[in-house]
Amino acid sequence: MRGLFIALEGLDGSGKSFTATELKKSLEHNNYKVILTREPGGLPSAEAIRNTIMDYDIDPKTELLLYLAARRENLLHNVIPYLEQGYIVLCDRFFLSSIVYQGYARGLGMQEVRNLNHFVCDIYPDINIFIDTPIEICMERKRVAKDTNRFDFEKEQFHKKVKEGYEILLNQNQDNIFIVDGSLDVAERVDIISKIMVKYLCRIDNQLNKTKR
Ligand code: TMP
Repeated sequence: MRGLFIALEGLDGSGKSFTATELKKSLEHNNYKVILTREPGGLPSAEAIRNTIMDYDIDPKTELLLYLAARRENLLHNVIPYLEQGYIVLCDRFFLSSIVYQGYARGLGMQEVRNLNHFVCDIYPDINIFIDTPIEICMERKRVAKDTNRFDFEKEQFHKKVKEGYEILLNQNQDNIFIVDGSLDVAERVDIISKIMVKYLCRIDNQLNKTKR
């Protein structure tokens, strides 16, 4: 793949979506071609799956299969074609969310969920960025947010488990995850991520088909 695939991860309310939007602006300002997508969602078929997940109180295994279905659609239509054209693809959540939320917090098993992802994913992110924001800040942001879904009303205990799940992944040290302090100002977060990306950007800059316009 000629482009660069980056997933942003974190707790609900961690600020990852805002970080992703600002990162996109910053990269575009530097003449990179960037697409920002999200999971679950990113295109009509996957957004329909997202609505089903958000609107119905469904069994965790059903939920996992729906996330995987949405992932497959997003990957085939929003990720792979753009990577082939040399874009930077920013994805607001990807497979690590399933491992943490379904595998750990909902108790389906981290390795089991990882295995199921292998069935769906032809490729994985070059870099995973974990926006590490204190749970209290995340919960407060969600409390005052206008656009809420059923997950925003999960108890603090659930968010603690999600955080623990990410920490387990960080300790396993196998998914190329970088931590960015979510309590920093968004400009600082973008700056840190840009520094993390430097060596990967060199790689794509040096290719024949440059991602720079
Ligand atoms: P968002 O608020 O970041 O858009 O994410 C929507 C919710 O979906 C959030 O509570 C995390 C959850 N989620 C999972 O549980 N598993 C997944 O695989 C993904 C992508 C999201």
